[in-house]
Order: sequence, then C-alpha cells, then structure tokens
Amino acid sequence: MLKSHVKMEPTILAIETSCDETAAAVVKGMLVLGQETYSQLAKHASFGGVVPSIAKLEHELKIDEVINSALNRAQMTLDQMDMIAVTIGPGLAIALEVGVNKAKNLALELNKPLIAVNHMAGHLFSALANKLSLEIEYPSLGILVSGGHSEFILMQSLDSMVKIGETLDDACGEAFDKFARLVGLPYPGGPEVSKISMKVRDEYKLSEKNINGSLILNAKHIKTSKVLSLPIPLAYDKSFNLSYSGLKTAVKNLVASEIGVSNLQNVQDIAQLVKEKGLSASSVEHLCLLFESAAFLQIEKALEKVIKKNPDLKAIILGGGVVANSYFRDQMSTFAERHSLNLHIPTFELSTDNAAMIGIAAGMQCQLAQSNNKRAEEYGIFTVIEDIKKLDRQPGLSF
Ligand code: KG4
Ligand code: ZN
Repeated sequence: MLKSHVKMEPTILAIETSCDETAAAVVKGMLVLGQETYSQLAKHASFGGVVPSIAKLEHELKIDEVINSALNRAQMTLDQMDMIAVTIGPGLAIALEVGVNKAKNLALELNKPLIAVNHMAGHLFSALANKLSLEIEYPSLGILVSGGHSEFILMQSLDSMVKIGETLDDACGEAFDKFARLVGLPYPGGPEVSKISMKVRDEYKLSEKNINGSLILNAKHIKTSKVLSLPIPLAYDKSFNLSYSGLKTAVKNLVASEIGVSNLQNVQDIAQLVKEKGLSASSVEHLCLLFESAAFLQIEKALEKVIKKNPDLKAIILGGGVVANSYFRDQMSTFAERHSLNLHIPTFELSTDNAAMIGIAAGMQCQLAQSNNKRAEEYGIFTVIEDIKKLDRQPGLSF
C-alpha cells in the first residue's frame, strides 16, 4: 500500500494522451491550478487525419515538457501532488500507452495513488472547470460530441449515469472531418466548416419538411433562391440514437450534382473529382451551412424525444470537441431556454481535448469513493503497487 491516502480534495496531476493532444494539468477539486496542451495538429494535417505512429512519437517527445509546464503554471512541484491521474481510454492504443506508462512511473516513483479516468467522463465534467461549487442539477443530460464519440448520458447522480443514445455509425466530429475532406477543406474539418458557415449564415433561410416520412432540411439562399436539401436521419425514430453515415452519403450526392458528375461514385472518387474540377466558393459555403445545420438539427430532434420521455430533466451538460462550434453553442442555449433547462458549457479551450477535464473527473472519482465508503479500486483509484504496475490502457473503453 502506498503512503498517501485518498484525500477529500486532493491535488492531482492529470495526464491526457488519447489522441493528438499531449496535455497535463494540476487540478484541485474543480479548480484548475495550471495546465498545458501541446497540439500535434500541424504534424498530422498533411495526412488528412491523425496518424497513430506520429501521435505516439510526438507524445513521447513532449510529455515531460508539457508536465513541467503545467506544474510551473500551478507554481507547484511533483512532490506536492497527492495523486496522479491519467486517461486510460477510449482512444488510440499506442497514444494512450504513452500517458499511461508515464503516469504509472510517476505514481511508483513518487509513491502516490494512480487514478484511471475515462476520456468521455472527462469531457462530461469539462464544463465544471473553475466552478466554486458542484452545480449539477439532477436529472441532467450529458451531450458528448467529439471526434470519436457522440452520446447522450442520463445522470441521476454522480454515481448513476446511463448511456441512453449514441451514434450508430460515424461520430459527429468525424462527420465534420469527412465532409470537409469531401469539399476540399483542410483537417480538422470542424473548425473550417464552422468558420465558413458563420460568415454566410445570414444569407440563408432554413426550413424543415416531412417528405414520405423522412425529415428534410432545406437551406435556401435568400438572394439567388437556390435550395439545397439534406435528410435528418432517425428524426422520426423512437430511439435517441444518431446516424451520421446517411448524412455523409446524402451530402456526397449533393456534391456530385454540384460538380455535374454521377452520384454513383464513392466518397473518395467524388473528393478526387472535386480536387480536379474545383467547387465554386458559393457552393462550398452553401454546403457547409447546410451540413452544419443538419448535423446539429439531428441532435436537437433526438433531444426533443429525450425531454418528452424525461419531463423532469433539469439541465444539459455539453462536452467534446464539437462543442467548440459557436452555432451549436447558440442552438443549445436557445434550446435550453425554450425548455427551461440549465445549460453547462465548457469554455472553448476546454471543449477540445485537455488534461484539466481529466483531473476534474479524477477528483469526482475520489469524492465518490469517499462518500460511498466503497473500495477505492471500484472508482478507478489504485493504491497498491502491484495493481498500479498491472494497469493497462483500454482503447475501446465506453461510458
Ligand atoms: O474532443 P476532441 O478534441 O477529440 C476527440 O476526443 O475526438 O474532438 C475533436 C473533434 C474533431 O472531429 C473536430 O473536427 C471537432 O471536434 N471540432 C469541431 C469544431 N472544433 C473541433 N466540430 C465542429 N465545429 C467546430 N468548431
Ligand atoms: Zn476528446
């Protein structure tokens, strides 16, 4: 057994390396004392997506520097940490491994407990950063939209969370990235699409129509009257699930028609043809505006069903990289107001991957372990040297 015990509000050094950000943070409760995030974006951009072997190498190169920087910002030293926390999954196996190994070595060297954190739990708690008290109202709905996941989590308490809906195929952020590649925009697609649609949103009028039992979203350019349409998959389905693969095929067909080629070709071929033939700036704008609106309307439709089924819902908590989208933030704010729900949104900085959220989630795990008087291990807190040595990354971990 390690020397230090689980404190009620320990000072935690958190490490996050699940994808293409190398991040570390010093957190106490919900207070972020210091943090650092090194984004590897520039290293992956020319490949059009994250290359796992490059991610691993970059994490290895940067991890010590990032940890030191987080500690410096907190004006603290490693010895002052009560515990070490690390993302164990979901994520890229060889990327997670770098953080997990680093955290294990630190915990063993410093004789401190190690907390294993689920990356999605981190996103769920990112909105609480630097709050003075735990302000979650129950039941709450967590809406997690990132590059790898899109899921709805119904929370009855910190200790009772159930996934009630998720994407059946592509994640929301992944769909943005694929759409962007299709129309010739750089990786990552989300921020690019969001920038373009924000610029032209006032030039379009959106309308919804039920055609043969399918919900269709139309975007009409006010000046030219040109209309482009996309279906909203699962809008009339009973479940709270999402699907972005159908949207991808529908938008591929729209792009084919914009460049005057057959829609029978696959996404890669259409993307290549877009490169060769070029897509006009006005087409790209129209498509970005429509795609962004359709991607988020699908979430809103699912939310309406969740609220109908759970009329006592008190709040919405947003998390994940897609929450950096300003239009989505505005839409969710209007939606919450319309349904008299409280809304918790992370800052732009803490929407995408970071270690502060991992430290906050780790703190919650400590709090639960204390208040429920259960074995710390049940909350992912390891104090036995042999258990720490055995801890492994879990790339496929789910909520
Ligand atoms: O949470 P995150 O940083 O990493 C994962 O855990 O996956 O999310 C990254 C995803 C990417 O797919 C990226 O395109 C998307 O978040 N994203 C956005 C925006 N900023 C980032 N999607 C839409 N609009 C944005 N402004
Ligand atoms: Zn993430």
